[in-house]
Amino acid sequence: MNNRFPENFLWGAATSAGQVEGGWNEGGRGPSIMDILGGSVDGSVHRHQTVKVMKDVYYPGHTGSDFYHQYKEDIALMGQMGLKSYRMSISWSRIFPEGDERTPNEEGLQFYDNVFAELAKYGIEPIVTILHYDAPLHLADHYGGWSDRRMIDFYLHYCDTLFKRYKGKVKYWITFNEINCLLVPFGVITAGAMNMSYKSEDNTEQLRLQALHHQFVASAKAVALGHQIDSNNKIGCMIAYMCNYPLTCRPEDIRLAQQDDQIKNMLCGDVQVRGSYPGFATRYFAEKGLHIEMLPEDTETLKSGTVDFYAMSYYMTNCIGTDESQEFTAGNLIYGMKNPHLKATEFGWQIDPLGLRWVLNNVYYRYQIPIMIVENGMGTVDTVQDGKIIDNYRIDYLQKHIEQIGESIADGVEVIAYTPWSALDLVSLSGGTMRKRYGLIYVDKDDYGDGTLKRIPKKSFYWYKKVIGSNGLDL
Ligand code: BG6
Repeated sequence: MNNRFPENFLWGAATSAGQVEGGWNEGGRGPSIMDILGGSVDGSVHRHQTVKVMKDVYYPGHTGSDFYHQYKEDIALMGQMGLKSYRMSISWSRIFPEGDERTPNEEGLQFYDNVFAELAKYGIEPIVTILHYDAPLHLADHYGGWSDRRMIDFYLHYCDTLFKRYKGKVKYWITFNEINCLLVPFGVITAGAMNMSYKSEDNTEQLRLQALHHQFVASAKAVALGHQIDSNNKIGCMIAYMCNYPLTCRPEDIRLAQQDDQIKNMLCGDVQVRGSYPGFATRYFAEKGLHIEMLPEDTETLKSGTVDFYAMSYYMTNCIGTDESQEFTAGNLIYGMKNPHLKATEFGWQIDPLGLRWVLNNVYYRYQIPIMIVENGMGTVDTVQDGKIIDNYRIDYLQKHIEQIGESIADGVEVIAYTPWSALDLVSLSGGTMRKRYGLIYVDKDDYGDGTLKRIPKKSFYWYKKVIGSNGLDL
């Protein structure tokens, strides 16, 4: 078989600061919204959220996977794996502890200088997400987070600081992680955006869309600024691709699935790639009586800040249909009806490698800009036996998805990066547990924070090294 992956393909792995770093109150860092999220108390995907950091509550993100202290060893392992890229995020409150200061925290900036220097040693290209759900807590408390337009300026000052400081060290930037998740009333997201519990009466679609508009404007301004500071910068959006197939071939189901794709996925893609709200969004807002406050200049801002690449997370597909008696799947922010043709992980996420090919074709032939798959992976309980983790199920999952990426490239889709979730085990976003593991590297820590934090490369680590070494040929 011919090799389908281009020579410079960015094979990598991903994490996010709030889930992996720990060191939550070290090096001058201020608390972030992630720091007031405990574990799930009822086994559901809704984490226990407190109004501030309480003494008697265990917050898994406070220690994370201890990357803050072990980044050198972790990056050395990434080097050993042969990674060409590392998709990570910067903790805003490490740079601006409260978020609205003018002067950044030098120790925080230095930490990422060290991380980038370490990555450079191994020839690993950083792909940096500027905000991955963990805005400074102070901004949420004092301004209501992204529901307030002033967030745009705080965010831009943060971006300006990053673009200038890391000029020449970071080329690939992602403005917001899974920006489209603000469309769903999911706890971690509304917490992350506005410090708002999913149960809050204020958690309305109206408010979430207003917050989303502020993020669109912030993202577009950041893209323009990033290009102005360094014309080599490549700046992307990031969409959680929520793919729902029509449950049946009834025309009503087909149309429902189309509308779902438009609102949940294409709305954000269209604004960020094409620079304006699509007509179907305008109609949707009008029919639902939603009114988004926009300034006249926002139209031009959105137009002049379109992205260079489209990044996405892809974990599963579900179904949507008019028969409401259909059973629903488990998910985190993404959920839908069960598909009888698919198997699911033990956490109920349906496994659909071919769906990735559908999504990649769907996205590429709409926008025709390079695509990065910056999250994809299998969350499971792993067991250590004789000091080893034999995660054949994860290898199988990744192998089948990579195969479909190859097929998509052969279809003409320009995929430039694949960074599975996750480089190492980390705190699960939805449940706040460690038990649901995605890593290629095992981290010895449990749901209560106990463990040695020792790292053990899993079987998938060695398998992925071989895949990268053969540029995707040896799967
Ligand atoms: C993505 C998020 O939605 O899904 C990650 O960007 C998250 O932060 C990942 O960890 C997996 O979800 P979960 O809830 O299983 O950790």
